[in-house]
Amino acid sequence: AYVITQPCIGTKDASCVDVCPVDCIHPGPGEDGFDDNQQLYINPDECIDCGACEPACPVTAIFEESAVPAEWKQYIKINADFFQGA
Ligand code: SF4
Ligand code: F3S
Repeated sequence: AYVITQPCIGTKDASCVDVCPVDCIHPGPGEDGFDDNQQLYINPDECIDCGACEPACPVTAIFEESAVPAEWKQYIKINADFFQGA
């Protein structure tokens, strides 16, 4: 699955949401009353690894799981955990 990492925090551009063919990037601005979330998250159980979101992000926050930079590896769990608790 693809993963959203630290650069999304404070940016939340949401261009990724528009290009995702399976709508697995949550939550969007104004969606579900989650506007105050720090970042958006990709549901690893729904992501089909199409890669469309990666170049759409203006701050390069999105990486394929195996390509996440070492300092942001914790975001793999952070994305997954968001959907565990939901
Ligand atoms: Fe959506 Fe494709 Fe990105 Fe997965 S890789 S989150 S399916 S746009
Ligand atoms: Fe965040 Fe980039 Fe999407 S800033 S909301 S991962 S386009």
